[in-house]
Amino acid sequence: MTSNKAFYLTTPIYYVNDAPHIGHGYTTVAGDVMTRWHRMAGEDVWFLTGTDEHGQKVLRTAEANGVAPQAWADKLVADAWLPVLDVIDAANDDFIRTTQERHTKRVQRFLSQLKDAGHIYEGAYEGPYCVGCEEFKLPGDLIDGDGDEKLCPIHSKPVELVSESNYFFKLSAYTDALIKHYEANPQAIRPESAYNEVMSFLRSGLQDLSISRSTFDWGIEVPWDPSQVVYVWFDALLNYATAVGLGDEPGSEGAKKFAETWPADVHLVGKDILRFHAVIWPAMLMAADLPLPKCVFAHGWLLVGGEKMSKSKLTGISPQSIVDLIGSDAFRYYFMRAIIFGQDGSFSWEDLVARYTSELANGLGNLASRVQAMVVKNFDGLLPAPGELTAAEKVLTDLLVKTAAQADVSIRAFDFQTGIVAVKEFVDAVNLYVTEQEPWTLAKKDDAESRLRLATILYTVCESLRAISTLYAPIMPKSMSALWSDIGAAESGLGQSIAEVATWGQLKPGVKITKSESMFPRIEEPEQI
Ligand code: ME8
Ligand code: MG
Repeated sequence: MTSNKAFYLTTPIYYVNDAPHIGHGYTTVAGDVMTRWHRMAGEDVWFLTGTDEHGQKVLRTAEANGVAPQAWADKLVADAWLPVLDVIDAANDDFIRTTQERHTKRVQRFLSQLKDAGHIYEGAYEGPYCVGCEEFKLPGDLIDGDGDEKLCPIHSKPVELVSESNYFFKLSAYTDALIKHYEANPQAIRPESAYNEVMSFLRSGLQDLSISRSTFDWGIEVPWDPSQVVYVWFDALLNYATAVGLGDEPGSEGAKKFAETWPADVHLVGKDILRFHAVIWPAMLMAADLPLPKCVFAHGWLLVGGEKMSKSKLTGISPQSIVDLIGSDAFRYYFMRAIIFGQDGSFSWEDLVARYTSELANGLGNLASRVQAMVVKNFDGLLPAPGELTAAEKVLTDLLVKTAAQADVSIRAFDFQTGIVAVKEFVDAVNLYVTEQEPWTLAKKDDAESRLRLATILYTVCESLRAISTLYAPIMPKSMSALWSDIGAAESGLGQSIAEVATWGQLKPGVKITKSESMFPRIEEPEQI
């Protein structure tokens, strides 16, 4: 057992009302890049994702398809939600489903404890509800539709009037404690716009929350009242803790896991579900005397025609359709590179193809294939030993130190774009170096001095690629692992480590350099999709 607490990151658990689109892929890729980065820095990591299967939204979809809700969820998980993780190359450590017994049992135990401690009471609820959001709405949250109709601003669909006898959680009691907590920990909600939104919401005061439903039965049974099921968000938020053993007996495997992971370091979410995570969830944890997550990061929306891409509006683009065109690595690269994390971004096929072509196919792909071809041709495919380094090489070794530091700071701070641009600028600098040093001219001469200079240049580029293939590995794991082997880093006995990446001269002269299969083959722009 390690005494280190793992870096614990979660994605939302997604509704199984439909198959994933690139909005879901976006969150999961961001979480995967972040956790791979921490793993490659040598830290213990736990990366959780999963599915949210209860509630009216899933129930109604199942009914509309003439299938029982459990069978519907099983099918969607097996056919869509698990496979998409391979499509986007996510290396999650666990996948939780809210219909699993490990979850439902722990939710019931948690709820009973809260009730016994006096945090839950019985009452009557009446008010608007959006099934798309699975949320009790306040009149001020809604926008006007036709006539008297009130619409959910996220789903642009009419809200329904709910009137039920339910159990309530005393959420209002936590208003001041939450404000105090966030004043003392401004990093606990990011980016700053999200922090400000939550703070002004909290300052307007909280109402108690209905945490059960009695008009349908697709949910976890309330342990002391079988006529009610747990409100789907109360059930869902708990996944982050039930998945790592919440409430298990001291000494058990679950308790051990919980001690090693909780509290979560990051709950990664889209801004649509910020309040649930930054208001309700920490209040639930406070009520149970549990430590609060260190950070909720709310990223922006992928937009289509200026609106949030969504399953319910049928504007979703499948991750597979993009991966079929450019591969999983370029998919990951594109979304992390093109959109400022924390802001909205419009998806466009033109921009995707343009960046793929200039930055990956022409930029990095071309650099690697040129130098590999020259080592194969001029040095029988064996990495030559470099001669003395000149000012031109020193520019690159210095830049690499800065690049590695910048990438580490930016990526850890969720500024994926700045981190990637730093590495890209290093790639550009190496390409410029090759252009300026003209190794092809030296290759035509056969005096000893020219050969040594040629050796120095090719070694320098291979060393640069060694560093690039490490810094880009969390973003493009497959192609960077291939590049790493092709430039002889594996044969040199090295490991891809972020901490060591800027140390110059790690490749061993004499290792075999292989000409990679084209990492980023050129593509034609799709005619229309
Ligand atoms: O809300 N742009 O599930 P969900 C960016 N089950 N990200 C997007 C997106 C878009 N257009 N559309 C979806 C739920 N996402 C609940 C969560 S957690 C305890 C329960 C991503 O299937 C983004 O992460 O509606 C968003 O928050 C999440 O998918 C919502 O997925
Ligand atoms: Mg949604």
